[in-house]
Amino acid sequence: RRNRGSSYFDHYHPNPSFPLSCTVPDDLTPEEQQELENIRRRKQELLEDIQRLKDEIAEVTSEIENLGSTEERKNMQRNKQVAMGRKKFNMDPKKGIQFLIENDLLKNTSDDIAQFLYKGEGLNKTAIGDYLGERDDLNIQVLHAFVELHEFTDLNLVQALRQFLWSFRLPGEAQKIDRMMEAFAQRYCQCNSGVFQSTDTCYILSFAIIMLNTSLHNPNVKDKPTVERFISMNRGINDGGDLPEDLLRNLYESIKNEPFKIPEDDGNDLTHTFFNPDREGWLLKLGGRVKTWKRRWFILTDNCLYYFEYTTDKEPRGIIPLENLSIKEVEDKKPNCFELFIPDNKDQVIKACKTEADGRVVEGNHTFYRISAPTAEEKDEWMNSIKAAISRDPFYEMLAARKKKVSSMKRH
Ligand SMILES: *[C@@H]1O[C@H](CO)[C@@H](O)[C@H](O)[C@H]1NC(C)=O
Ligand SMILES: *[C@@H]1O[C@H](CO)[C@@H](O)[C@H](O)[C@H]1NC(C)=O
Ligand SMILES: *[C@@H]1O[C@H](CO)[C@@H](O)[C@H](O)[C@H]1NC(C)=O
Ligand SMILES: *[C@@H]1O[C@H](CO)[C@@H](O)[C@H](O)[C@H]1NC(C)=O
Ligand SMILES: *[C@@H]1O[C@H](CO)[C@@H](O)[C@H](O)[C@H]1NC(C)=O
Repeated sequence: RRNRGSSYFDHYHPNPSFPLSCTVPDDLTPEEQQELENIRRRKQELLEDIQRLKDEIAEVTSEIENLGSTEERKNMQRNKQVAMGRKKFNMDPKKGIQFLIENDLLKNTSDDIAQFLYKGEGLNKTAIGDYLGERDDLNIQVLHAFVELHEFTDLNLVQALRQFLWSFRLPGEAQKIDRMMEAFAQRYCQCNSGVFQSTDTCYILSFAIIMLNTSLHNPNVKDKPTVERFISMNRGINDGGDLPEDLLRNLYESIKNEPFKIPEDDGNDLTHTFFNPDREGWLLKLGGRVKTWKRRWFILTDNCLYYFEYTTDKEPRGIIPLENLSIKEVEDKKPNCFELFIPDNKDQVIKACKTEADGRVVEGNHTFYRISAPTAEEKDEWMNSIKAAISRDPFYEMLAARKKKVSSMKRH
């Protein structure tokens, strides 16, 4: 009977009471003993190798896992910050850009900022327009870099405008619009040399087109120009010469067939900036000397507010030129009130006139005009229209100045 010797598996078998089938007999020759010893050693070495490999694998795996998760975490963190930057941008464009730069998510160069705005991912186009319209040097550089990202080669002016005006929302202020459209006209002429005599021509025609869009498509504008009128309206704008009729005809047809779309179109769009659809309706007006409310038929046209006693009256009871006036909402016992006033000069009498009961036309005696609308909606509409009527003036002047310039030029 053989004694139970040490098992081959003793080294690693967890359960020593395991019934061992592979026992080593005691009666081995020294050679056999040596052989067995070698085998044991090699086995031990192999086991150690395996363990080392296992450890190494485990280490590498955990490293990979850690690596992945820190990378992922970093990415997630970054994405979160970019999203936050976009949100901030939409609320306050300058702060948003500052945040992105400070967190190394955006390089502080006009080109990189312009790229970011041009891509526009998750950005509010009104906010983009606000940023591009700012007067600061950096913003103006960004505006130019942004316009350079637009490719207008071989597009006609309407196609180029469609693309440009869709990439952000044009702000309402004349100075901003002027800068942006100037940049647009420069870029268009750079991409399409030889189409226009000068950037001014391109600038003026761009506005003629935007206004044509409103005339043709806004239901409030009754007067729809024909193509002939559009052509004659744009005579002499090519540095004193005329643009080819075909070109104007094409642009007209393009707009007629498809209006310009602008982003964030909330109705309070460029129509209000460039066009002030005449408005009329009943409003209550507070008297100047005698503080009583009178119901009057108001008509807003030609940058003036006219008011009549009856809708059928030929002569107005009063005329209020809107030049130099401001408008604000006010609280009163009457609902839906707003007020026309001279900014920075509360006591100055507003230049206006009215007709007395005996037919005499006299100067008004109002330091402010307080007006009440029948509903909150009508108040908003009146205020918007009046605001537009007040604010469009500087813009018309700028455009008129350019027109004068190009039409006085002689073509070489
Ligand atoms: C970006 O650079 C301009 C100067 O080029 C600097 O005035 C501005 O503070 C910088 N903005 C940030 C957020 O670092
Ligand atoms: C963009 O911002 C404007 C002005 O803050 C807001 O009226 C408009 O609803 C916003 N658009 C979107 C899509 O959030
Ligand atoms: C063009 O006219 C349509 C319809 O009135 C209007 O929604 C759109 O904002 C106008 N586009 C421009 C650029 O004025
Ligand atoms: C508006 O202001 C300008 C400059 O102060 C002045 O010349 C002009 O007469 C004013 N117009 C009216 C209607 O008050
Ligand atoms: C205008 O009203 C003031 C008081 O508000 C009065 O003193 C002045 O005489 C009035 N002027 C005219 C021309 O009615």
